[in-house]
Amino acid sequence: KTPTWTGPPVRVGVIGGSGLYKLDGLEVVQELNPITPWGPPSSPITIAKTSSGVHVAFLARHGIGHFISPSQVPSLANISALKHIGVRAVIAFTAVGSLREEVAPRDFVVPSQIIDRTKGVRRASFFGEGDQSGIVAHATFGDPFDETLRPVVEDVVRKELSQLAPEVKTHGKKTLVAMEGPQFSTRAESLAYRQLGGDIINMSALPEAKLAREAELSYTIIATSTDYDAWRESEGAVDVAEVMKSLQENVKNSHAVLKALLEPVAKLVEDEGQAYKNAQNGMRFSIMTKPE
Ligand code: ADE
Repeated sequence: KTPTWTGPPVRVGVIGGSGLYKLDGLEVVQELNPITPWGPPSSPITIAKTSSGVHVAFLARHGIGHFISPSQVPSLANISALKHIGVRAVIAFTAVGSLREEVAPRDFVVPSQIIDRTKGVRRASFFGEGDQSGIVAHATFGDPFDETLRPVVEDVVRKELSQLAPEVKTHGKKTLVAMEGPQFSTRAESLAYRQLGGDIINMSALPEAKLAREAELSYTIIATSTDYDAWRESEGAVDVAEVMKSLQENVKNSHAVLKALLEPVAKLVEDEGQAYKNAQNGMRFSIMTKPE
């Protein structure tokens, strides 16, 4: 176990959400325990490689075994640790509740938008808030996911699932409501989020997506649906037992999808790759502070 990586570039990072605590079917090369200026990440970082030599860095957002609650996830450390290894694209898995009939439990969603309903408890920026640099920055976040990476990920997920599990649907261009938790929503809140335009809801998308933008990483979410939240008044509101049941199914599909994604995503973030170019320019017009 060492804190640094000295092997070939690792361009693809994967953040595992609830139920996805390790990689499957890849050769593990090394386990790292980095320390960042924001402390240690949620879990050790596992470096693994595919048979064709694509390296990937994996970390478990809630710790291996799930002991970090959503508002305690050290997102600054997680994003910073991946960035320092050389990662350029992050695929972030996360369990979500569904706010729409057509997104059934166990379906996969590659969202394109986020509505921030977190309450400011979580530090959501590398700038300000105790940062000593004195630099004021306002990241552009109109498209919260990398618009080169996102459609490619959606295509690969759809193709993979249509072969592996045809009953599981893949949805694109959906809006994710990011809430604080740890309690699930009331029925009234759930109904209100539908009116706001939300399609899925979770507790982990933010601040991770914002920090990835600030770190100039290409970032996209693969959301796995576990429940219908609380808006369907004829049914019981979501509980952990329901979420856990769907998670087990989703994890099997997540492993397969991930394996299919590594090569195409690595291609997009080669030196000449479009996703790498997008991410590199992510903060280009964001700094307000006058240069010295
Ligand atoms: N994660 C999984 N299901 C959820 C729900 N219904 N609300 C918030 N986060 C979730």
